[in-house]
Amino acid sequence: MATKLRLSIYPSKFKSLPFLDELLKKFTVIGGNASEELAKKIAKKLNAVYLKSNLRIFPDGEGKITINGKPKKGKIIVVQSTYPPVDSHLIQALSLISKAKQYSSNVIAVIPYFGYARQDREFLPGEIVTMDVIAKLFKALGLSKVIVVDIHSKIALDHFKIPSENVSAMPQLVNYFKKLRLKEPLVVSPDLGGALRAKEFAKLFGTSYVALKKQRNRKTGKVQIRSSNLNEVKGRDLIIVDDMISTGGSIIKATEFLKKQKCNRVFVACTHALLRGDAEKKIKKYGVSKIVSANTIPGSTAVVDVSGIIAKAIV
Ligand code: R5P
Repeated sequence: MATKLRLSIYPSKFKSLPFLDELLKKFTVIGGNASEELAKKIAKKLNAVYLKSNLRIFPDGEGKITINGKPKKGKIIVVQSTYPPVDSHLIQALSLISKAKQYSSNVIAVIPYFGYARQDREFLPGEIVTMDVIAKLFKALGLSKVIVVDIHSKIALDHFKIPSENVSAMPQLVNYFKKLRLKEPLVVSPDLGGALRAKEFAKLFGTSYVALKKQRNRKTGKVQIRSSNLNEVKGRDLIIVDDMISTGGSIIKATEFLKKQKCNRVFVACTHALLRGDAEKKIKKYGVSKIVSANTIPGSTAVVDVSGIIAKAIV
């Protein structure tokens, strides 16, 4: 009460005091080990308290996670992408959420890159739909909401039986590409599953799109492009748009095909650049001029910031 009174009399003077600024913050953002930088940016956008988490790995491989400080009682946001090591990052995310629940009934999980989302259905008999198993774990922790960025599929998102929201990095990626000088740009989806994403990108960019026909061998994981000749790509700069790059196999096969069709330069826009092993080097070797990704996964290509769109989904 006294604080409120003093504030209304001397607002600008007291607001500039750092301890008062901390007192006025309503939300707490906890940054998981995998997403520290992004979590800090989200906290800044929300004017929230930022708490770092510490991770110690025991000789037997178990992780011990500690939150640096005490969260506020209001809304708590846990930020942790689950890129490799996927299972470790996942268990850390679940542990942080569980801890946050001890302080607040309103906990939101922000999992910018959601590992296992590609295992959203039973492709071959006997396969376990791990996405469903994980969604059940999130629900069991009593979360208020899960926020993800460009999750692999709507089917994956539908496994959550709690409020969930998928935000798209496509407008941010489009803004990046608008600044480049491209020759008759055309947007390409490397597979039919990504056609809607490419369509959205092309619409925002102000151009058209094509979707290739990709086939993946479910046993070996190898991909092949089954499209026939595409005259419209000839001499044009192309932007291949995808949700994620893992081994680079899909992008490489698409690039090989498009180069044979005598396109000009090939660029890649993706949300999650996992770029396992030497994927980045291989993709460049096959003639891709530039890979641009979002900061859902830290790395050399992660130049597009999604903290703003995530913060918007939280408030
Ligand atoms: C597949 O449907 C996805 O959208 C990606 O195209 C794919 O998962 C990327 O994996 P990789 O880089 O290993 O081909």
